[in-house]
Amino acid sequence: MTNLPAQNSDLDLRVRLGRLELANPILVASGTFGYAREMEHLVDLRSLGAVIPKTVTAEPRCGNPPWRTVETASGLLNSIGLDNDGIEAFVAHHLPYLRETGTRVIVSIAGRNPEEYVQLAARLESAGGVDGLELNVSCPNVAGGIDFGTDPDQCGKLVAAVRRACSLPLLAKLTPNVTRIAVVAQAAAQGGADAVSVINTLLGMAVDWRRRRPVLGNVLGGLSGPAIKPVALRCVYQVAQAVAVPVVGIGGIATIDDVLEFLVAGASAVQIGTANYYDPTVSQRLVAALPAALAEAGVRRVVDLVGTLNTDN
Ligand code: FUM
Repeated sequence: MTNLPAQNSDLDLRVRLGRLELANPILVASGTFGYAREMEHLVDLRSLGAVIPKTVTAEPRCGNPPWRTVETASGLLNSIGLDNDGIEAFVAHHLPYLRETGTRVIVSIAGRNPEEYVQLAARLESAGGVDGLELNVSCPNVAGGIDFGTDPDQCGKLVAAVRRACSLPLLAKLTPNVTRIAVVAQAAAQGGADAVSVINTLLGMAVDWRRRRPVLGNVLGGLSGPAIKPVALRCVYQVAQAVAVPVVGIGGIATIDDVLEFLVAGASAVQIGTANYYDPTVSQRLVAALPAALAEAGVRRVVDLVGTLNTDN
């Protein structure tokens, strides 16, 4: 579980997500990087700030019918349906590998009800080798998937229930499919979240008009990629203004300029998602690009950039 130190001793790439310290602010987003093992021949996993594997549920799930993904203009629509082998398979087969990767491991979990989230959290804490949990309260592709992320009261209570059951650092991954994401973020923070991840995908759809059919088997899906970056930046900015806990930015991040835009807008760290599909090495390259970007920004520490956006007229 030891992270590599920042490579350039003059610079400090470390960031904190509440009680969780990361060697750098570049994480890979759940569902876009497998269970890390699939990437080991391409990426030095130790170079990453953290890995977040595909969301785990209590029972195995076979996910939604095909098609499950479709490319759109500057984006990707997915409706995977939280396909995974369940918590026991995760603990038996994936966690032993993940805990040896030399980077932080944040496990994404989703339940059908608060009790399942609590059980998953307790199971993962007792399994050991987990650095933090990301509560996925924002999957738009399963029944009830975003209910905990759209109702601030439910979100706060869910986070609080998991907080009571486990001592691991908690991130709440929020949906943009609400009117006021900052209110949900406040509820998550009040419930005890160490940080909030902002944002999951935007609900969308694709249509094959010739066949008069939706393209996705589940009709609707979640939109990610460059198309949603302005929405994600807006959400990060609004949430960072509203909560004291760190914000992890997600949404269309693919370049070092994207990374710095999110940091300046208020993110303490970022997750790289859709870009992993066309360039699995992107996160590692972004870590390598950070020192020059810090130099260009005139700072020595990543934390000195966070929230430095000047909105004065
Ligand atoms: O359909 C899916 O598995 C997507 C999950 C998510 O967006 O959290």
